[in-house]
Amino acid sequence: MESKATRMETIVIKADPENFDSEILRPAAKALAEGRLVAFPTETVYGLGADAMNADAVKGIFKAKGRPSDNPLIVHISDIKQLDGIVSSVPEKARRLMEAYWPGPLTLIMPKNEKVPDATTAGLSTVAVRMPRNKIALELIRLSGVPIAAPSANLSGSPSPTCAAHVISDLSGRIDYIIDGGSTRVGLESTVVDMTSDPPAVLRPGGISPEMLEKVIGPVHVVRLSEISKDTVPKSPGMKYRHYSPKAEMILVDGEAQHVVDAINELVRKNRAKNRKTGVMASAENREKYDADVVLCPGSRNDPESVAASIYGCLRDFDRLGVDIIFSETFPEKGIGLAIMNRLQKAAGGRIIRV
Ligand code: TXA
Ligand code: MG
Repeated sequence: MESKATRMETIVIKADPENFDSEILRPAAKALAEGRLVAFPTETVYGLGADAMNADAVKGIFKAKGRPSDNPLIVHISDIKQLDGIVSSVPEKARRLMEAYWPGPLTLIMPKNEKVPDATTAGLSTVAVRMPRNKIALELIRLSGVPIAAPSANLSGSPSPTCAAHVISDLSGRIDYIIDGGSTRVGLESTVVDMTSDPPAVLRPGGISPEMLEKVIGPVHVVRLSEISKDTVPKSPGMKYRHYSPKAEMILVDGEAQHVVDAINELVRKNRAKNRKTGVMASAENREKYDADVVLCPGSRNDPESVAASIYGCLRDFDRLGVDIIFSETFPEKGIGLAIMNRLQKAAGGRIIRV
């Protein structure tokens, strides 16, 4: 158990990403430069930042999140010039992807510069880098004067935070500042691409789809969750953890729409008979068709971006409402849909029923 003495006062600063005075970020930027921890909005999810070049500061991130230290962090930059001090070389295809999609929800893995501490990369010879597309994030990094290592700003194992309230509920009392910049736009973490392999490998799907990558650099290899087994060493250490999980048990139900509705309603009946509080994650098209205790809707099937933006919030709401078991519809794996299904599969620990 954590002792009272290790708790600190967390200061929350409100800022509108489209209209803020950068002076408001100065104390938080100073804290980062001094090796302390600041949570901030990005376009994907909130990040928990520390000076990426300061090993002690970075260790503080792992402690605050309860994150296993073998899971490396993404280094966030605000200016392409910062790359020099972080990587030892920039592959040609990486250069082209940066031009096309930075700032944006794309993380590139490249050979690391020896100055980056092992704490940041978990001792790997590579480093993950991204330039976020959020004006608060960019300005905070610029003012701090250092590259910022930042995982998602949640307690390890719980769904990533898509608004400041999620961060406050997980990390208040453990970090120095939280910048409240409202809800994040994309809602799922960035696409992670390993640029040191040939063809480049998508280790984690996100806002930049494989189709978008291939338009710029040709074929990429999309690593499937089923390729990552517990006894092999995964290319991206984070892939082996049961991330993004609600506390409730979760099961995906896949198949033709009416079959899915019927199967889920049957599962709801059976679980209710066992006195379990049931939840259903339903698309807008089907939400009225379920008779579970709690039905939450992340968005319409015609608007997968809205689904992506709301999924983590729904998972947190199921837990807040004390749901014991969640049944979820599946979504087509096109565009952002690949990332949606990747996170749902992880939240469900791979449990899927096909009907
Ligand atoms: O959208 C995002 O990427 C958010 C925001 C805050 O930028 N950050 C984020 O960080 O999702 P995190 O730590 O939750 O996820 C980073 C992922 C992990 O799966 C980690 O294993 C992988 O990137 N990763 C980091 N460095 C790596 C490396 N050198 N090689 C392979 N995988 C790496
Ligand atoms: Mg995370």
